[in-house]
Amino acid sequence: MRMALFSIRRRLLAWLLASTGFLGALALSDTWREARETANDVSDRVLAGSALAIAERVVVSENGGLEVDIPYVALEMLTSAAQDRVFYRVDGPPGTFITGYEKLPFLARYEGQPTAFFDSTFRGEPIRVATLARSASTGINSMPFMVTVAETTIARRQLTNSILLHSALRLFFLIVGAAVIVWIAVTVSLRPLNRLGGAIAHRNPEDLAPIADRVPTEVQDLVDTVNSFMVRLQSALDALRHFTGNASHQLRTPLAVIRTQLALATRAANLDEARRAALRADEAVANAERTLAQLLLMARIDATARARRDDFQPVDLTALAQATTADHVVAAADADIDLGFEGDAPLKARADPLLLTEMMKNLISNAILYAGKGAVVTVRTAEVGGKVVLEVEDNGPGIPMENRSRALRRFERGVPQDRPGSGLGLPIVEEIAVLHGGSVELAEPPGGEGLAVRVYLPTYR
Ligand SMILES: Nc1ncnc2c1ncn2[C@@H]1O[C@H](COP(=O)(O)OP(=O)(O)O)[C@@H](O)[C@H]1O
Ligand SMILES: [Mg+2]
Repeated sequence: MRMALFSIRRRLLAWLLASTGFLGALALSDTWREARETANDVSDRVLAGSALAIAERVVVSENGGLEVDIPYVALEMLTSAAQDRVFYRVDGPPGTFITGYEKLPFLARYEGQPTAFFDSTFRGEPIRVATLARSASTGINSMPFMVTVAETTIARRQLTNSILLHSALRLFFLIVGAAVIVWIAVTVSLRPLNRLGGAIAHRNPEDLAPIADRVPTEVQDLVDTVNSFMVRLQSALDALRHFTGNASHQLRTPLAVIRTQLALATRAANLDEARRAALRADEAVANAERTLAQLLLMARIDATARARRDDFQPVDLTALAQATTADHVVAAADADIDLGFEGDAPLKARADPLLLTEMMKNLISNAILYAGKGAVVTVRTAEVGGKVVLEVEDNGPGIPMENRSRALRRFERGVPQDRPGSGLGLPIVEEIAVLHGGSVELAEPPGGEGLAVRVYLPTYR
């Protein structure tokens, strides 16, 4: 048994998961960037506020220097959020450190510039730093100073992570929901197909009527193909029935004759009568034998058509025709027929030599059988228009134009009917020709009298 393809459901799910997974990853990376910006925005504002609160408390001392009384609420508003630690420093005019953590990184600012924010590390921890520039007035002149406030980034990271986590969860539930919907949708969508399968399974094996069930448009093409296949199957079955019917009839007739003659022989009054009956019975046996041989040949052609076409080999048509003609010389002489052969150049065709020989036998014996006493029969090979041609020509009565296509049909016989035969000779000729990619033509010979049967085969190069 062949392995089934992955189910449609699994395929759709795989597509869904792969695509939403990819798009989801893109969306999450975007969310992460935005979450960080948002977290920074919010916390930066607090950081700036706390720097401002400290700057407000910077005053000029009595000795003319700068002095600051750190308002602890300013730092308190920062630490409330998480376990973040807060650092600060205050610097006076360039080069003068006033108070705070002297190692804390800061940016030199000038008054009037907006507060600067940047990321850095302090004591091995990542920090976010805000530096604000102001000046304090002594009454005579103004003294510039900078307030730098920094905090560790635990709260920011927590905020970012929680935004990210929520987005990821939302996305996850969205994907799971979509997968469930796909699962259900596929089940529902495939229902007509299951119904179709059930309807076909419950059919009578003889029933090759077209499938009339309503199916989704996507499946209609398949159903149409199956329907046209069934029509062809039906006609092949009809042909087979017709053939077996005819074949059994063809064999039953000589068998009935044999029985009758044997019965006559047993009841014969004298030896002469018995002998006559035996002769007739023998004729009927020969007839049955020929018919059986033709039927088996047809079966062989069918089998070759299906399987063995690759076994064809280059065959010299001229040599084969010459040999087959030679085999019939005695039979021709017995029937008072002048049988001759024309052709010398080797002509190659890809063929099964046994089938070609059978084909030639049929044509030559037809000519001997139907051309009549004293007729001339000529077997010829030639190359015409890139094809090799085998021609069997006689100057007998021929077949009237209107009967020619009928003569090529199985079991159809013309006149006279008293000759042994079963109407399979010419159909076999045509089937062998077609099997080899060729064709058959029934025509008048150039002289007008008689019949010329021509078989065209592709030349082998
Ligand atoms: N060379 C011929 N000349 C005249 N009639 C022919 C010739 N060959 C075939 N026929 C006609 O075609 C009919 C069909 O031939 P064929 O298919 O060989 O069947 P069969 O020979 O068994 O009758 C024959 O019955 C005969 O009437
Ligand atoms: Mg025949």
